[in-house]
Amino acid sequence: MLILAFESSCDETACAVVDMGGGKREILSNKVASQISIHKLYGGVVPEIASRAHTEAISGLTREAFAESGVSMPDIEAVAVTNAPGLIGALLVGVNFAKGIAAANGKPLVPVNHIRGHVAANYLAHKDLEPPFTAFVASGGHTSIINVKGYTDFETIGATRDDAAGEAFDKVARLLGMPYPGGAEMDALAKEGDPDAVHFPSAAGFPDTLDFSFSGLKTAVINHIHNLDQKGEPLPRADICASFTKAVCGSIVKRLSEALDLTGSDKLVIAGGVSANSHLRLALSELAEKRGVGLYMPPLGLCGDNGAMIGAQGYYEYLAGNTASSGLNAYATKR
Ligand code: KG4
Ligand code: ZN
Repeated sequence: MLILAFESSCDETACAVVDMGGGKREILSNKVASQISIHKLYGGVVPEIASRAHTEAISGLTREAFAESGVSMPDIEAVAVTNAPGLIGALLVGVNFAKGIAAANGKPLVPVNHIRGHVAANYLAHKDLEPPFTAFVASGGHTSIINVKGYTDFETIGATRDDAAGEAFDKVARLLGMPYPGGAEMDALAKEGDPDAVHFPSAAGFPDTLDFSFSGLKTAVINHIHNLDQKGEPLPRADICASFTKAVCGSIVKRLSEALDLTGSDKLVIAGGVSANSHLRLALSELAEKRGVGLYMPPLGLCGDNGAMIGAQGYYEYLAGNTASSGLNAYATKR
């Protein structure tokens, strides 16, 4: 089944064509127009600029996605689009564009939750992966542990109470003078530092929950930097990156270990921009090996926002009958 998919929840405009079903989980095209170079100037995503940039990019990107896939509109069986959560103005660009294409061509319209989409990136990479499993989604806007009972049956069992994991990476990176978004650069610099140089607190401190809180950890890094600053000492940037990364990875390993105890799952699936972090991938490989569970991670190219993941989840939403009318709305918060 050929699906045309759109994603515009944050700072990447994305359009993809995927072929799902009948034993197939294939990406025919997956075009992403990143706005990072624009938002970098402001040190973070500016919502109004994001909406305008999506509007400028989406038509051309759709033409490119069709050209690369070798497929044309009549072959498409459904149009999938991210409609929550995300920046409302940004989401509305994709939702309205998808609505127009679906209505003009008489195709079903399938709304897709962005977090479910991130999880589904793994179906494209691991052809044998099926629910149930325990999933961890960590990106610039979300940090959730999910008991995935079926393709469209999700139960969130842990989440962040403040900053998202990616947001914490980006904020610490900014303190260390790195450009937005700093996650990937911190990943590289952490390899040159000593993870035991500074002891930063855990982000998994709440007892009896699977929740995270990254704000205390972020404040500890700020205080550490201010202390060094006041003493006129140079900033050991690599050591701070390595020590912060160790605290983040340790917190995630702790929570996912507890989550696996709770769900009894034999499969752990990770997704989202932060799942590209090499230190986290290594730490979770060790956890999975120790516990004897299968670990599923997207290839680096499918960790961040893209349209193919929305198409993959859109297929399962379509099978479940989760289609929408042209009255479909977008929602900034999780639904
Ligand atoms: O999933 P994504 O592309 O967009 C959202 O849905 O937010 O995730 C972007 C986030 C950013 O915060 C970025 O710094 C982080 O993922 N990120 C990383 C790495 N690559 C991207 N964080 C840590 N290590 C990385 N290698
Ligand atoms: Zn995302």
